[in-house]
Amino acid sequence: MKIAVAGKGGVGKTLIAGGIACGFAVRGLKTIGIDADSSPNLGLTLGLSAEETRKIVPISDNQPLIETKTSTGYGGVYNLHFSVDDIVKQYSIPTPLGVNLIVMGTVRTMGAGCMCAPTAVIRALLRHLVVEVNEAVVMDLEAGVEHIGRGTSRHVDDLLIVADSNMKSLEIAKHIYELAVSAGMKSLHLVGNRVMNDVQRETIQTFADQNGIHVLSYVPWDQNVIESDMLGVTPLKNKNVQAVKAIDDVCEMLLNKST
Ligand SMILES: Nc1ncnc2c1ncn2[C@@H]1O[C@H](COP(=O)(O)OP(=O)(O)O)[C@@H](O)[C@H]1O
Ligand SMILES: [Mg+2]
Repeated sequence: MKIAVAGKGGVGKTLIAGGIACGFAVRGLKTIGIDADSSPNLGLTLGLSAEETRKIVPISDNQPLIETKTSTGYGGVYNLHFSVDDIVKQYSIPTPLGVNLIVMGTVRTMGAGCMCAPTAVIRALLRHLVVEVNEAVVMDLEAGVEHIGRGTSRHVDDLLIVADSNMKSLEIAKHIYELAVSAGMKSLHLVGNRVMNDVQRETIQTFADQNGIHVLSYVPWDQNVIESDMLGVTPLKNKNVQAVKAIDDVCEMLLNKST
């Protein structure tokens, strides 16, 4: 199962991607969390300390890895016949919540014609990452529409578009949805996050209905999330946190849908 999480900056992509990845791991799937944001912070949400997160060398900055995986001795010609599982085994970082983390680094130019070596490696990684029945991959994407339809997310089973009741985030969600549809993606869902009351929930639902976007679920606004973030600890360890429970329900829905 391969899931990607997209949306405007600050809507809760990282929290939701992290929560879903943990949900898969808790249910016994071998799970990889891919941080594809160029300002990566999925590590914190997966329970690493700020110091541990800071120390991670993203794939795009890992010169020896890029060279060994692409070098042919000819300038501009890359050898991409490497095993992706290899990279996952060697370069993923175990986290306290049971998810193996891969930090991509700068993947801005994905699919836009740039064939620099790091991009070639990352693109191959995302495309050819083979996910077995007992495995899951959850990708926390760059804010906005960068990745959509450019090869990164086209190969996923489900794209979750996160939005809150703010019209700016809903407009971006719509833009992402349209790009994803035109890229041929089929399983697209909106997840409404930071919902404080019925009015906000209605705002999201009405917008989605008007634009023909399926709403998978809602995650409530939760003070515990804010407080954990202030302390620099993950809110995901606390199963009594309402938002965490709601994200775990999303995980369950995705699993039920796929069986
Ligand atoms: N359900 C929620 N309730 C309260 N605060 C939330 C919730 N989801 C996210 N947040 C807060 O919103 C901010 C952005 O969340 P984050 O997951 O980093 O978003 P993104 O990855 O989309 O930029 C964080 O400060 C986080 O604590
Ligand atoms: Mg984020």
